[in-house]
Amino acid sequence: MDPTSQIIVALDCDSRAAADALVEQLGDECRVYKVGLELLTAAGPDVIKDLVARGKEVFLDLKLFEIPHSVAGAVRAAGALGVSMITVHGMGGSGIMSAAVEAAREFPGMRVLTLTVVTSMSDADLTDIGVGDTVDEQVLRLARLAQKAGCHGVIASPQDVAVLRRALGPDALIITPGVTLSGESPADHARPGTPHAAITAGASRVVVGRTVTRAANPVTAFRVVRASLTP
Ligand code: C5P
Repeated sequence: MDPTSQIIVALDCDSRAAADALVEQLGDECRVYKVGLELLTAAGPDVIKDLVARGKEVFLDLKLFEIPHSVAGAVRAAGALGVSMITVHGMGGSGIMSAAVEAAREFPGMRVLTLTVVTSMSDADLTDIGVGDTVDEQVLRLARLAQKAGCHGVIASPQDVAVLRRALGPDALIITPGVTLSGESPADHARPGTPHAAITAGASRVVVGRTVTRAANPVTAFRVVRASLTP
């Protein structure tokens, strides 16, 4: 995959106007956007339709955790909008994951990804919610469960990528958020790494948010990330 398509820019914006301004600024540089709960709630589904109409690929990151019937409905609704990747929460178990995979079959090319453990969580956070395993063990457990349920891939922190690539094999899609360029402060990332390190370790794509979206010049920042991925 070419470096441009390996970069997914997270449109973590609180309004349609802010999202449009960024997409306009990035123009042809960026081809893939992540839409999450904030923007979807603030702007509604038209933001997705319009991105697709502009030729962009959309990763809808809703981390679905509901009864399987409702998850399937949400996946179908996303597919109808033209979404090409969607996330479910692995903590919801196999039922949710299989329901999402089954629903996505109606939309050729749509991929279901499982979030294992959010990158801001530590072993202590897992203990707090009654999970006795370490983050590493839980990530691997949920990733294997996701693969068994037919999911196309997982979301993985930079530091989990290598282990997951070995465990899931070459065909799994591994998408890595929580990345920062070297020299940047790791913000709220508990297990950070650079985009280059993530791709080198086996990630298929990286999600880059504030590094690009809060930069004084998002186009320059995007190019810096892309250059860091160019062999
Ligand atoms: O930190 P950044 O702005 O690059 O975040 C981009 C995306 O990465 C966010 O939309 C969020 O979903 C994800 N992220 C994450 N874990 C974090 C921080 C961000 O999964 N600790």
